[in-house]
Amino acid sequence: MFAFLALLASAFSLLCFYLYPKHNYWKRNGIPTVRGCVPLLGHMLPMITKRINFAEFMRLAYEEHKDHSMFGIYKGTRPVLIVRDPNLVKIVLQSNFSNFYENGRKVIPEIDPLLSKSPLLTYGEEWSTGRKHLIHAFSNVRLKILFAAASGVCRKFEEFLNGRLKTSNKYEVDLKSLFARFTGEVVANGGLGIEGYCFEDDAGANAFHNVLGNTFAESLGTIITFHYPNINRLLKLHFLPKSIDRFFRNVVSENLKIRRNDSTPRNDFLQFMIDLEKTGDVIDEERVAAHAVSLYLDGMETTSITLNFICHELATNPEIQEKLRKEVRSTIEKHGGLTFDALKDMTYMNQVISESQRLHSAVGFFQKICTEEFVLEGSDGLTYRIKPGMEVNISIFGLHTDPRYWVNPDVFDPERFNDERKQTIEKMTFLPFGEGPRICVGMRMALLQMKACLATLLSNYKLELSPRTQLPLKISPHYFMSEPVGGNWVYISKL
Ligand code: HEM
Repeated sequence: MFAFLALLASAFSLLCFYLYPKHNYWKRNGIPTVRGCVPLLGHMLPMITKRINFAEFMRLAYEEHKDHSMFGIYKGTRPVLIVRDPNLVKIVLQSNFSNFYENGRKVIPEIDPLLSKSPLLTYGEEWSTGRKHLIHAFSNVRLKILFAAASGVCRKFEEFLNGRLKTSNKYEVDLKSLFARFTGEVVANGGLGIEGYCFEDDAGANAFHNVLGNTFAESLGTIITFHYPNINRLLKLHFLPKSIDRFFRNVVSENLKIRRNDSTPRNDFLQFMIDLEKTGDVIDEERVAAHAVSLYLDGMETTSITLNFICHELATNPEIQEKLRKEVRSTIEKHGGLTFDALKDMTYMNQVISESQRLHSAVGFFQKICTEEFVLEGSDGLTYRIKPGMEVNISIFGLHTDPRYWVNPDVFDPERFNDERKQTIEKMTFLPFGEGPRICVGMRMALLQMKACLATLLSNYKLELSPRTQLPLKISPHYFMSEPVGGNWVYISKL
């Protein structure tokens, strides 16, 4: 017994001996550290025990360090720097991109082959080629083609709502599931040129309508793949569920078979990618499937979450809903229908979307990796020489609700984004789509489909908050993106 206790004590002393310098890294370097560091786990305990999601944790840490330009945390024993000063944010995302060009999220190519090709997760030559292709895919001409597909989905959306309102004059719905149908159908129709069947009653079983898993095990897997890439090299966890991987490989392979035997010219995103990935007569099916997965993962979920929060705010603020409805109706009348140009003309709609993204950004933080040594100098005099391999995080939630940059930051006020006041917004404090060379490549596509969806909804229907929505909204600790606990419930009725 004595020998066992002695062994235990020596193991504990050895562990302390190993951990002390690790968890003392930021102190040694003169950088303030967030409270609550736990041996071995660092600051990740609240995320592992599902008390809070990482983006919310970052917001609190950002607020705790309001007098500092930067501070440190530990993901396990690994030190991670968080920059707060807009000037430092600009260095990382934009002006010194070549020192920070790699993203922090990692998947293992052998485990997640399709996902590992997404521009979000690649860098260097592979990233710049993939990005160039996507910029082409979302050019003005191609956006007009995507708009035609989105218009078709708007009609299906209306039919779906009318069907729900046949037997009752109010339809109570959780907005996230409603908009997952919409964005899923846009990906299927506009992206892949096939039917998504997302507005069918049993669409929940359909991968286009399925969102990523958020059970305890799945979200723990996400934490490990995102924040502990070294541990995942041992555990080899999939980020993309195997069922979704299989689904997209099948969709692409079936689609290619149909297209080989059918000479009808196609204009969709998939055809664009097929043409790109063709060498002679041989098509790299795996790469085409990877593009389809990227469209689905990078675009569908972020867009449906954003629509979800916009409509929550419209239901909560009926006078803003009415003002936006007036703009939608008059612009449609002016253009003789819901056209591409009519959407461009809806400027108050832009204000409403931006303000909702400020308060409820779908993505809560950035993870970047230093790729070349750089000296970061904060406005408060803090200086840190960052070395290659070190992770840098930026809190989008923190910047978007910082009272230093936003008066009454908790108030939903689309006037912050009117032509005059927009000019006074401090640079790098509003980042819903990111900034710099890695800014969201699908931003225009996202805005187009969101505006088409909102215009359809507002011109014919009214939104009211349902008492099932838990107020104030609290971000779920079970999901890596923004999802309110209990859902965002509204009543939809005909006008
Ligand atoms: C409202 C909807 C959307 C939001 C809020 C959003 C947000 C973002 C953000 C914040 C980033 C930058 C990530 C970083 O720097 O770490 C990003 C990148 C990206 N987004 Fe979006 N996105 C949306 C819609 C879309 C759509 C529709 C697509 C179409 C496929 C898309 C494709 C991408 C891709 C490929 C990247 C990686 C760009 C790169 O690293 O070069 N996104 N998005």
